Amino acid sequence: MIHSSAPGKLMLFGEHSVVYGNPCIATSINKRLDVYLNDKNEHGKELKCTTIDALGIKSKFPSNFEQHKFLNLTIAKFFEKYGCKNFELTTKPIPKGLGSSSAVVVAAVKALLTLYNLNWSNDEIFKFSYEVVKEGQKGKASGYDIAVAVYGGTIRYENKKIDIKDANIKELKSIKNLIAIDTGVKSSTTELVREISEKREKYKQIFDGIFKIINEIVDKAEREINNENYEELGELMNINHGILNAMGLSTYEIENLINGIKPYCYGAKISGAGRGDYIIAICKEQRKNELMNYLQDRKIGYFEILQDKGVDVEIY
Ligand code: PMV
Repeated sequence: MIHSSAPGKLMLFGEHSVVYGNPCIATSINKRLDVYLNDKNEHGKELKCTTIDALGIKSKFPSNFEQHKFLNLTIAKFFEKYGCKNFELTTKPIPKGLGSSSAVVVAAVKALLTLYNLNWSNDEIFKFSYEVVKEGQKGKASGYDIAVAVYGGTIRYENKKIDIKDANIKELKSIKNLIAIDTGVKSSTTELVREISEKREKYKQIFDGIFKIINEIVDKAEREINNENYEELGELMNINHGILNAMGLSTYEIENLINGIKPYCYGAKISGAGRGDYIIAICKEQRKNELMNYLQDRKIGYFEILQDKGVDVEIY
């Protein structure tokens, strides 16, 4: 049995602006997507076909289910390049909004590489996975989530032409007391990226200015992460959040949530496309328990973000 896994992600700084070739900072989380790959049945006999078992649906490859789109593409690319094999590929997912699509591709690639006895570098895994995800998704995307799934940790990511050849990935220090808080609302990244892209067309100069400021925030945040200066990092989060709000990406409920947790935190902001999914906050060490009580009393979902390793595989 081959077992591979890749971490989910959250965006810390630079969402949206990263889609236009600017840098962002993102972190892995210790919620991992698992892929199990078996090419033998329980009696040790070789399997007769390829099966995908993911998101509660089991189907023969190629699967007609939309939910299996990324796995279909990944497997098809391997078959095309290296020949067909029979196996059963099963996944154990992570919640939506935490990078499940990128993590499933990256983990599946690692499992398949192991099956085919191929030894690729992380850069090669990133490039291949990026191609798969680009093919499977609608609209523009920066690929930062794929980079986090491959490399893990906390990274600065920049993809100058939204083209794999220019991806620049730098590993940063881990951040302490980082909390992910569930807004309880699902948001559509594709739609919000399109909306911001239209606004950018309309207000080109204003958005050039906004992205320039976000770039400065990312540069400064990188330094403060490495200096472990969490008070300043929190301030930078607040500034970045204010900009995202000005871009129309916050909501009344998100603002209320952020205002409510403010006393316990150095800073808080939207994480990702906006208008829902998760917000992130950096909490004051001595007020962490109060923050947890505040969230629990209101039945608001949260977890502490512990940075995790990148894609990994084991055979047993
Ligand atoms: O909503 P998420 O967590 O998938 O993040 C989207 C981040 C964007 O910058 C808006 C899009 C992207 O591809 O980087």
